[in-house]
Amino acid sequence: MKITVIGSGYVGLVTGACLADTGNHVLCIDLDAGKIDRLRRGEIPIHEPGLDTVVARGLAAGRLRFSTDYAEAVAHAAVAFIAVGTPSDEDGSADLSHVLSAARELGRRMERDTLVIVKSTVPVGTSDKVRAAVQEQLQARGVPHKVSVASNPEFLKEGLAVEDFMRPDRIVVGTDPDDHRAKDIFREMYAPFNRNHERIFFMDVRSAEFTKYASNCMLAVRISFMNELANLADRLKVDIEQVRRGVGADPRIGPHFLYAGAGFGGSCFPKDLRALIHTSEESGEPAELMRAAQNVNLRQRRLLGQKIVAHFGGKLDGRTIALWGLAFKANTDDVREASSIDIIDALLQAGARVRAYDPAALETAATALKGRAGVSLVRSAAEALEGADALAVVTEWLEFRSPDFDDLARRLKSRVLFDGRNLYDPFAVRRAGLVYQGIGRSGVGE
Ligand code: UDX
Repeated sequence: MKITVIGSGYVGLVTGACLADTGNHVLCIDLDAGKIDRLRRGEIPIHEPGLDTVVARGLAAGRLRFSTDYAEAVAHAAVAFIAVGTPSDEDGSADLSHVLSAARELGRRMERDTLVIVKSTVPVGTSDKVRAAVQEQLQARGVPHKVSVASNPEFLKEGLAVEDFMRPDRIVVGTDPDDHRAKDIFREMYAPFNRNHERIFFMDVRSAEFTKYASNCMLAVRISFMNELANLADRLKVDIEQVRRGVGADPRIGPHFLYAGAGFGGSCFPKDLRALIHTSEESGEPAELMRAAQNVNLRQRRLLGQKIVAHFGGKLDGRTIALWGLAFKANTDDVREASSIDIIDALLQAGARVRAYDPAALETAATALKGRAGVSLVRSAAEALEGADALAVVTEWLEFRSPDFDDLARRLKSRVLFDGRNLYDPFAVRRAGLVYQGIGRSGVGE
């Protein structure tokens, strides 16, 4: 099948590369000429395990191509994904300008009946706007081509994007109920990922659009709920990690996504929560639970910083704090809405110097932290510890999982370890002579 993907960011690039890997001829386009140049050379602009191999394979086979040219994109295929960004507007709503401009560009050039697939995360009703935008252009040109619009939200996780795309737990497809041609195209395109049991859920377009927000907001609420319980556990001298195991053993709840920590960040949860809260308000009833989840998270992202400041009696002048982990989670270089930024701000405000290390996010963090004096970004976990009073671990990278606690105790002047992701056994940390502070773990062994 020939497929065009508009937008070569996270979602578009993974979608295009993986669909080329299963035998399709894919043309990915983007307005950013620099990015397209790099992609043509097989250079991947994001840190995403396995993506380089899939892109290289597609390029070598001639099945994956990159361009900045809409005319080429439209000529290439009668199936076009829109996978451009939908950032938050000032009021929290999703900014649809990129999506609608892509739709207009398609309509301006379409020379045959085309299936437009909206992959970007968009509010309910956006597909109708996309259809209208394309049709307006077709009418202006006086051409009779038919446009069919489908919603096919993407559920991939950063750091596991290729794996998630290749082995999806679900493929949500929203089409007009009688659009059999569109359904056939989806069945054919996703056949390689849909082998042993049916993973495609056909539904109407609006329900598909909503499913994406419902999934992300459900997960976000779940994390905030665990964080609220963890903070209560701290006050009650309960260990949230033991509670997590007990609670997660109930099959109705399940063990995943129950980890208390320094709060959620990234490009999806905070943005999607904002957008659905905005939609709720617009629809006439405020979203109380989601707003609470959002507030709990904003508080949680600051919590570790506050714990550190409180430990040192409110003042950090002359102190140096080592920070391991800047990315919003492991296996990505993404620092968008990362807790590390809030923590660094709290530490700097209290007068500390910060030495921060991340295995992948040093460059992105350098941009995000520009203008903040007092932060040094260093090249290794050990280097971050030089001259430090305390260590704060903010991201659950594998390389931070089992440090030598005796060595840490020797290096950290004030001998204290703040575990923002509950990675360590408090007993093992304390045996080495360190003070341990986690999230919701004050009850352990005290
Ligand atoms: C998320 C969704 O999982 C994915 O389906 C959607 O397509 C995009 O948004 P992603 O943002 O890549 O993916 O990361 P995810 O692994 O879901 O983690 C999000 C945040 O929640 C991270 O900051 C993570 O540290 C935090 N988290 C996750 C917790 O604090 N506790 C948990 O138990 C799980």
